[in-house]
Amino acid sequence: MAAAAMTAASSTAVTASLLTIFGATGDLAKRMLLPALYGLECDGLLSNDLRVLGTARSELDQAGFQAQVADAIHRAVPAAERDEAALTKLLNRLSYHPASTDDAESMAALCRRIGELRNGPVVFHLSTAPRWYAPICAALGAAGLAGSGTRVLLEKPIGHDLASAIAINDGVAEVFDENRVFRVDHYLGKEGVQNLIALRFGNALFEPLWNARHIEQVQITVAETVGVEGRGDYYDHSGAMRDMLQNHLLQLLCLTAMEPPSQFDPSAVRNEKLKVLRSLRPIGRDSVATHSVAGQYTAGAVGGVAVPGYSEDLGRSSRTETFVGLRAHIDNWRWSGVPFYLRTGKRMPRRCTEIYLQFRAVPHSIFAQTGAQVQPNALVIRLQPEERIELMLMSKTPGLDRAGLRLSQVALDLDLHEEFAGHRRRLAYERIYLDALEGNGTLFVRRDETEAAWQWVDAILDGWAHSGSTPKTYPAGTWGPNASVTLTERHGHSWRE
Ligand code: BG6
Repeated sequence: MAAAAMTAASSTAVTASLLTIFGATGDLAKRMLLPALYGLECDGLLSNDLRVLGTARSELDQAGFQAQVADAIHRAVPAAERDEAALTKLLNRLSYHPASTDDAESMAALCRRIGELRNGPVVFHLSTAPRWYAPICAALGAAGLAGSGTRVLLEKPIGHDLASAIAINDGVAEVFDENRVFRVDHYLGKEGVQNLIALRFGNALFEPLWNARHIEQVQITVAETVGVEGRGDYYDHSGAMRDMLQNHLLQLLCLTAMEPPSQFDPSAVRNEKLKVLRSLRPIGRDSVATHSVAGQYTAGAVGGVAVPGYSEDLGRSSRTETFVGLRAHIDNWRWSGVPFYLRTGKRMPRRCTEIYLQFRAVPHSIFAQTGAQVQPNALVIRLQPEERIELMLMSKTPGLDRAGLRLSQVALDLDLHEEFAGHRRRLAYERIYLDALEGNGTLFVRRDETEAAWQWVDAILDGWAHSGSTPKTYPAGTWGPNASVTLTERHGHSWRE
């Protein structure tokens, strides 16, 4: 059930009266969270009573915080498109209270402030380093602020591996029951990702073909042109596997591969995703060499602009991967034998997030005598930079060839921006905040999902560590190391580029 479809009665009962953002002066808040709140404000989707309390270490007063928020919105929204009345309304909802998460006295003062401001359910959004999640929850619990009607939103990464994820989840669970813990994967808030759900389960056409009998291979690509953009300290401890694959790519894999849930509701959807994660064939010490590739970019050019390598970006040498490519298998009836190729990398030639499903070839070509090549059909679901669905089909090439039909591959092409031209492009966090404020957990990640994902990823990381291999280099502006090409070509497949 989409948040918007909730009944007025049920939504009033859970709709938050206060959103408290920890890390409210941070980069994520400025680039995404506050602009998302502004977007919801413009569309009249925030309840009139909602208050927003920002907190961070910075010693700001309310006016200082309001000025920071106004500045963030000014940067995010061009003046010509800005709704000044909505911005003023948002600014009037804001309060700020400085606090140090490691100082009991200061947390207690913050909690008193929260107590004064709340007038019903509260959402706590922890946009801080994950090591603070359990201590912040403990402080909220001690102050009596974690009872029913409160929810906590946790940013990724939840930990660094399975053990640390369990420790964080256990710490949070001491205070908040699981159904009040909303783990954010902002990819689930993207319009294109939800469209994948709509495409699969709103159409009867694809389901009969959505299985190993008809699908030859699946590729999921999340390619970025950016480098580490000043986030080197975080990124170097994380790498592409922990930063992107453990969460965003595995979520895309789940939505692509899961069985139809009985309803679009939190339990049904997340139960199906979990089954996919638990069916992933482990890639461990004996198979990392053949099923995985780690890469790191060196100096090169992206979009015609020269860029430094990762170690120059970082200021020191490093063994952290900025690219990962995998050949995964889902061991269940639906997907038996179908490779799922996953890849993600920084400093790729272009920004592109897409899911590519290649169907099996026709069982027999009636055009063989004329030499016409029948290429397999494919479905391409493009999520970024534009939302687009392409169905690749074979068609007759126009002409009067005497030797027989000539064929070409053509695309049935649905450009969703064109189709829904009057609709504003939304930030993923608009969906995330709307659902969190209204208590709908469908597009959030459940504890068992995140832990199953870590378990699978940990085995690969262990395999890499055990082999002692270092990431293979690739020049910035290319599609990753050569070994990534081999990963697919060894099996008669090739990456879509
Ligand atoms: C974040 C990662 O989760 O996702 C970043 O930490 C990455 O490294 C970002 O750049 C990509 O998100 P998007 O929405 O730009 O595809």
